[in-house]
Amino acid sequence: MHVLVIGGAGYIGSHVVKALLDANLEVTVYDNLSTGLKINFFDKARYLVGDILDVSALNEAMSKNVDAVIHLAAKKAVGESMTNPEKYALNNIAGAINVLNAMSQNNVRMLVFSSSAAVYGEPQYLPVDEEHPLNPVSFYGFTKYDMERYFQWYDRLKGLKFVSLRYFNAVGYDETGAVRGLEQNSQNLLPIVMETLTGKRDKLKVFGNDYDTRDGTCIRDYIHVTDLGAAHVAALRYLQQGGESRALNLGTETGISVLEMIKKTEELTGRKVNYEFAPRRPGDPAVITASARKAREILGWEPTHSSPENIILSTWRVYNS
Ligand code: WQD
Repeated sequence: MHVLVIGGAGYIGSHVVKALLDANLEVTVYDNLSTGLKINFFDKARYLVGDILDVSALNEAMSKNVDAVIHLAAKKAVGESMTNPEKYALNNIAGAINVLNAMSQNNVRMLVFSSSAAVYGEPQYLPVDEEHPLNPVSFYGFTKYDMERYFQWYDRLKGLKFVSLRYFNAVGYDETGAVRGLEQNSQNLLPIVMETLTGKRDKLKVFGNDYDTRDGTCIRDYIHVTDLGAAHVAALRYLQQGGESRALNLGTETGISVLEMIKKTEELTGRKVNYEFAPRRPGDPAVITASARKAREILGWEPTHSSPENIILSTWRVYNS
């Protein structure tokens, strides 16, 4: 199978590429290197530098006997999506429509898409399964929600088969050290904890310690990118075997609080995390965890890399090198 991985030089994308290469699939990466990094390139993959807004370059990439597309290229800063929706509409919606149309034009009928827990918004019950109402509270989440609707229509009208993978909190780094590029300006918890440890940041602000949780801080479901990579391979196999289009959650079904993450990091690295409590961040639910029952049943997928020890140590190894 020849897979075109759009956004395959980024943080999650490069882990996905590694998983595909390890499964002996043929990989071409299409990436504009806006956040993707050359240091994440693998010798066994082919790389095309191009933008999803460049329709002719995208069509050209898609015309080379591509069997399936994995589309990960998107803007992903939730806060920024609320102040600059235009950027998110252009890249995450218009860009993704370009991908769909290029697939359609070139008769590529299998798509695995990077979706997000952000499609659910504030959880109405836990763990969140795929039947949970979709009620995104950020424009970022809306872009993912919206694209899932487009895929359903392209399935009906053009026979496109898709698996939309709704990642919960993606964390960790490849344990063999094959991915070394650090995300620049990450707004996420674990990278910020790491930057505090290495001195790149002065202090971590813990957003809220008055939530109704076991220690007052927010609880999230952190899933290792190597486990995400394996799910993409399994989703391609599923589509190749004629599987129906669907959305699947990818999470561990367990929650870790912000303070637990800090304490565990201190324990494992032997260093103190300099942090202070700060006001709640708007839009943060107190707790969100996934039901990944469907991914287990349908893909035969099981997270095996997502222990707190592994997510922290695999990240620390890269930040501390
Ligand atoms: C985790 C926890 C923060 C930074 C986001 C998106 C979601 C999905 C995954 C992409 C929260 C707390 C964080 C800090 C803190 N994105 N925190 N201080 O918001 O759960 O999920 O990434 O698909 O849609 O919303 O992730 O890493 O930002 O935060 O206290 O400096 O850490 O409040 O409880 P989040 P996060």
